Amino acid sequence: MRTKILVTGGAGYIGSHAVVELQQAGYQPVIVDNFSNSEESALAGIESILGAKVPTYRIDCADAEALRGVFRAEPDVAGVIHFAAYKAVGESVQKPLAYFQNNVGSLLALLAVMPEFGVESLAFSSSCTVYGIPDALPVTEATPTKPASSPYGRTKQMCEDIVHDVAAAPGNRVHTILLRYFNPIGAHESAKIGELPLGVPNNLVPFITQTAAGLREKLTIFGNDYDTPDGTNIRDYIHVVDLAKAHVTAVRRLLERKASDVVETFNVGTGHGNTVLEVVQTFERVSGQKLNYDIGPRRAGDVPAIYADATKAEQVLGFKTETSLADSLASSWKWQQTLKQM
Ligand code: NAD
Ligand code: WQD
Repeated sequence: MRTKILVTGGAGYIGSHAVVELQQAGYQPVIVDNFSNSEESALAGIESILGAKVPTYRIDCADAEALRGVFRAEPDVAGVIHFAAYKAVGESVQKPLAYFQNNVGSLLALLAVMPEFGVESLAFSSSCTVYGIPDALPVTEATPTKPASSPYGRTKQMCEDIVHDVAAAPGNRVHTILLRYFNPIGAHESAKIGELPLGVPNNLVPFITQTAAGLREKLTIFGNDYDTPDGTNIRDYIHVVDLAKAHVTAVRRLLERKASDVVETFNVGTGHGNTVLEVVQTFERVSGQKLNYDIGPRRAGDVPAIYADATKAEQVLGFKTETSLADSLASSWKWQQTLKQM
């Protein structure tokens, strides 16, 4: 029998790509999503790529009783990938309680319910945001975390702490891999699934593609007076399909009980940093579009520069990114053009 993996937030941007990669790697994904930040169309995209429907439960993951219903209906679930969370940094400042309730509440519900059904493997979506403004680059998993600069970031730190405390409790059997993502971009090569930002995008790449598509007048680059080669911020942009594949390797390690500790942490990035201007110029090159942009003031809370030391994921998980920045941005542009026709 194929091994079932529960994917919370499986209709979302990263989750939908993980569902595809899991199925193609021989696992049987089962989606849990309340569609608070996704559309049913993501399910149609997944089905079109895989040629099969993926079982989907429309429930709130923070609802422990509803989760029990899913585990009862799916007794063959062997592990969980937990993507479901709110992720908008600015919104989290406006609605901190909603972020704590949803992001912390859904993890608590899962950690309570999984052992009741003998499910002992969890991969958790963490973020490079836990490093704050790092003292040295690149950041390794041993780089100290810094106080969070937003309630969103705090939920990720709290969730990591909760995972460690639960793991240390007597009788715990759940093994967890914490994956700290850097900046996911791009879309599936089929352009059948991708990012669906609601309203004005906060993130750089959807803002770029929407500007090139004529949906936004211009991109404003948030500051060019940072201490970086061209003065703009540095980030580690990872293609979403590469990121999705990291989850497959993490799940395999958990199910094969290869983890060396009850909680393991991995950076998931390319190991390379690019400035905002480099992203803009690379986008212009691969899309053939001239981008309308200007330089504005710094955005409050921005980290000047961060990129991953990806050595641990490569050595321990055997995971290495495959997609260049240029190919990642080309896939974002292809997806944007598909969206225009939807
Ligand atoms: P997304 O919003 O596209 O996907 C999240 C999915 O979870 C959505 O489909 C949403 O409807 C669902 N969801 C949210 N709360 C839920 C709940 N209580 N019950 C059921 N479903 C719920 O976001 P994404 O970009 O795919 O991010 C996935 C995870 O990765 C999140 O935990 C996010 O914090 C983390 N992460 C994202 C980024 C990024 O830049 N996209 C970077 C680092 C970490
Ligand atoms: C990237 C760069 C901006 C928009 C956020 C979260 C982080 C993580 C990933 C979840 C920055 C610049 C952006 C624009 C710009 N998410 N920019 N003009 O800030 O690295 O991280 O997403 O965990 O927690 O904070 O990503 O895409 O917003 O910005 O100049 O219109 O692009 O200043 O340097 P960020 P981003």
